[in-house]
Amino acid sequence: MENTQKKTVLSCIQPSGALTLGNYLGALKNWVQMQDEFDCTYAVADLHAITVRQEPSKFRAQINSTCALLLALGIDPEKSTLFVQSQVPSHTQLAWVLSCYTQFGELSRMTQFKDKSAKHADNVNLGLFAYPTLMAADILLYKPDFVPVGADQKQHLEIARDIAIRFNNIYGDVFKVPEPYIPKVGARVMSLQDPQKKMSKSDENANAWVAILDKPEDIMRKFRRAVTDSEAKVCVGEGRDGINNLIGIYSAVTGKSADAIAAEFEGKGYGDFKTAVGEAVIEELRPIRERYEQIIADKAYLEEVYKKGAERAARVAFSTTRKAMKKVGFVI
Ligand code: TRP
Repeated sequence: MENTQKKTVLSCIQPSGALTLGNYLGALKNWVQMQDEFDCTYAVADLHAITVRQEPSKFRAQINSTCALLLALGIDPEKSTLFVQSQVPSHTQLAWVLSCYTQFGELSRMTQFKDKSAKHADNVNLGLFAYPTLMAADILLYKPDFVPVGADQKQHLEIARDIAIRFNNIYGDVFKVPEPYIPKVGARVMSLQDPQKKMSKSDENANAWVAILDKPEDIMRKFRRAVTDSEAKVCVGEGRDGINNLIGIYSAVTGKSADAIAAEFEGKGYGDFKTAVGEAVIEELRPIRERYEQIIADKAYLEEVYKKGAERAARVAFSTTRKAMKKVGFVI
């Protein structure tokens, strides 16, 4: 009973490479917390990942490891629907239908398409261009009230809304038009080496980012080497990007306010502060890494999660697909 009254949330994450402390504090920690308040559906968006070339065995390992990590973080497959996108055929099916209600012009304006096609100039494929229609299908299939997305995905959520509105205008009320979800707390974690840039796993400098699964000694080394400034004062300040970033991370992990942190490190140097941030992050991530190691070794458990998740998702997804296709006139 209780569940039917909760608002619904949907989000997906691509299984492309190591997830970072930025992914964790900026998004995934919220995914876990949202489970208490909302009825959540989360997917590993593997179909999106092949818009850039993937090496098959690495790709397979990445899908498994992303799922195991979501479970290790605390996504509870009993509470939430957790599944792998490619295991629910309605995603590709509805994506095709929606692609016929999406204009070439609007897809051409997507900044991610422009960026990615510049970056992978030798592989500007149709999937990369049509990516937002697949994402629209991911979303609209589950009729979520809210979709938590970062700034880089806002334009894609906007187009999903436009497609839903356009379709509904022709056929009546088929899709729910979802709202973006801006979390109450959420840190924007910057590079530890160039704190004006977002922390990214594609950074060539390995010291610039921390992976959720990094070993404690690596985490500590990266924080010890983090770029700061010459003011030697632990407090938030304009233009002090390095120290502001470390304070943001420390605050997100410990729950302490920026003022409390400034008081705690009054009269102490950056060395002490960096060590404290490193230790706090290590302790936050340690149980996650330990749970991850158990889950990734338990193939039978993962298989079970996939199977149940896909079944649960497919029921909802197929019912929406069927409704939409009937409206168009398909015999389904
Ligand atoms: N495109 C998103 C990203 O790269 C992942 C994604 C796929 C997604 N489908 C989605 C996010 C649906 C939210 C809702 O981050």
